Amino acid sequence: MIINYKTDQEIDDMKRAGALAYELLDLAASTIQVGISTKEISDIIHDYTLSKKATSAPLGYMGFPEACCTSVNHVVCHGIPSKDHILKEGDIINVDVTPIVNGFHGDTSRTFFVGDDSQVSQTAKNLVRCAKECLDLAISKIHHGCTILDIAKTITKHAHKQGFSVVRDFVGHGIGRTFHEDPNIQHCSTVAKLQPPIPLSKGMCFTIEPMINEGSLHTKILNDGWTAVTIDGKLSAQFEHTIGIRSDKTVDILTLP
Ligand code: MF3
Ligand code: CO
Ligand code: CO
Repeated sequence: MIINYKTDQEIDDMKRAGALAYELLDLAASTIQVGISTKEISDIIHDYTLSKKATSAPLGYMGFPEACCTSVNHVVCHGIPSKDHILKEGDIINVDVTPIVNGFHGDTSRTFFVGDDSQVSQTAKNLVRCAKECLDLAISKIHHGCTILDIAKTITKHAHKQGFSVVRDFVGHGIGRTFHEDPNIQHCSTVAKLQPPIPLSKGMCFTIEPMINEGSLHTKILNDGWTAVTIDGKLSAQFEHTIGIRSDKTVDILTLP
């Protein structure tokens, strides 16, 4: 494992990418409505990214064909935007964006409700709230020298308390000039316990991106080679931020303005 530690100047660069990523999700939020296709969301995000002299990391990444991921309802992650996928009243959709600004990546996602809130099921609302709380709680507990297991325990405890499960097939990751770097950031404590303890320390930039499921934690990949769905067809929700730890040991959420 090779961890690529960053200088404060590099973390400043990461923060510029993160700020654009945040803006892109606000743009997604204002775009999402009943009747729009997931491809339209991706195109709007891509056009805005280019207008800021940045590029979309997902586009062409290991052959991924679009500028962001759009994961609707039982899709856990890596949903491919499509002109044929039209959003419906009561859907939940995760939009995951990663612009590259001056060579640095900012990776963030949120799960949104489509249409009128009153048409979203109570289970979906609880699940989405839980996924957001899992991310926020995990971030609030990060301190210099804490371990990935500490993060995983916080997320797993909170999800299980509400009767939800934590996906283990996909993890957070180090990030910088490369989209995915060491270390893997596990969200599930059962898996994290099996890894050697890795302290999170100054110079590290990484994502936390828990995927929380209504039913089974297990996933499968569709024939397109990308779309990960829940094995039981039940709902999944996710939130993601990119985090940096500066030389003075402060924890900086890089994907905020
Ligand atoms: N943004 C995703 C992550 O959080 C990765 C997407 S890879 C893609 O790590 F190719 F599907 F875009
Ligand atoms: Co990520
Ligand atoms: Co992401």
